[in-house]
Amino acid sequence: MRIFPGAKSEYRTNNWSLSINRNHNETESVENISRRRFLGNTAGTAAIVVTGMDLSASAVQTEGTRKIRVGIIGCGSVSWKYISEMQSKSYFEVISACDIIPSRAKARAKEYNIPHVYSHIDEMLAGAEFDFLVNTTSMPSHYKVNKRALQAGRHLWSEKPLADSVSNGQELIELAKKNKVGFWAAPCTVTSPQFRSMAETIAQGKLGRICAARAIYGHNGAFWFWAPEFFQKRGGCLYDLGVYNITTLTGLLGPVKRVAGMWGIVHPEVVVTTHENEKVRVKVETDENALLMMDHGNGLFSHIQTGFSYFDSAKPHDFMAAQRGEQKDIRLTIGGTLFQDKEGQNILATPLNLPEEIALFLFQRGYHLMRLFPS
Ligand SMILES: NC(=O)c1ccc[n+]([C@@H]2O[C@H](COP(=O)([O-])OP(=O)(O)OC[C@H]3O[C@@H](n4cnc5c(N)ncnc54)[C@H](O)[C@@H]3O)[C@@H](O)[C@H]2O)c1
Repeated sequence: MRIFPGAKSEYRTNNWSLSINRNHNETESVENISRRRFLGNTAGTAAIVVTGMDLSASAVQTEGTRKIRVGIIGCGSVSWKYISEMQSKSYFEVISACDIIPSRAKARAKEYNIPHVYSHIDEMLAGAEFDFLVNTTSMPSHYKVNKRALQAGRHLWSEKPLADSVSNGQELIELAKKNKVGFWAAPCTVTSPQFRSMAETIAQGKLGRICAARAIYGHNGAFWFWAPEFFQKRGGCLYDLGVYNITTLTGLLGPVKRVAGMWGIVHPEVVVTTHENEKVRVKVETDENALLMMDHGNGLFSHIQTGFSYFDSAKPHDFMAAQRGEQKDIRLTIGGTLFQDKEGQNILATPLNLPEEIALFLFQRGYHLMRLFPS
């Protein structure tokens, strides 16, 4: 079993495989990255740039080189986070935005001063030149979009999952190698300081021999403006949420030798509120609740539970909001109990006297407040 940090770690999951080079000197090599190296098929490092690790511009941009020209495809919920992060770095230039729903691409372009707008990947690839495609389309589109970008010789970052099957994922990796372009994909949990700390603790033997681990990631889906695709074929909680756990556990504990799992549908139909604020009834076609058991070898087993129907009423709850202007996240931890009433409304019962703006913030996310001890 190989453990990060080490010489070379290989992370394999049931739906994709990815090799990442990691060692104790990695920080040094990341800081020395130049644009040429970035464009020269470096492994893993650019992903760190995209996803927010703060590398100073001087470390990344070498004199006389031009900026990395970026095209972003998929202008939904997560896209603004990528765009604002990239625009905060002097070595990126976001030049194109694309979405099959043209109004979304136009809106993002207007909001972030992106000069070129497209409604199809082929138009985008044939349009204004760019070096690096960021794919934040819906999960069912990832494989197709990624394949087109790699065929067109673009460096690529894909939101997870990078493909919808092991064989399609392997095909993309081979295509990237053949065309000598960089290809990285979320999740990037293995690049976090928390991961490093856990990995080092394990590698130093402080926990003795590890034989079991578990990870849980779920929510009730009510927080966000959601797209039907999350509940349709090639969507589901395993690809959307469980992938973070898979990446972390295989990164910490080693590649998986065997895997077993089960999935189910809790609600045959859900109502999602789209970006355009429309309520749409969606037939749930894929995993809304999933359990995965992984055998890492040498008697080491782990399991993952993930779902879109989870409700944890036992602990204080975190609510996260990102303020666009200030580009910072606010994390709010509120003590209380969450439950659903007969009508299926989310009720947060709390003894706290919450300020009006926080009550409004929660209400907008579907929470009705119940004061436990009204003053
Ligand atoms: N929303 C989040 O907080 C979040 C966080 C981390 C990762 N992700 C991942 O990012 C991806 C996007 O998530 P999202 O929440 O932004 O979804 P979303 O539904 O809000 O946005 C996806 C956008 O992609 C567009 N699209 C779909 N297929 C396309 C195609 N072939 N060409 C061009 N555009 C296309 C859709 O019209 C939509 O506007 C998903 O893989 C998701 O798992 C989302």
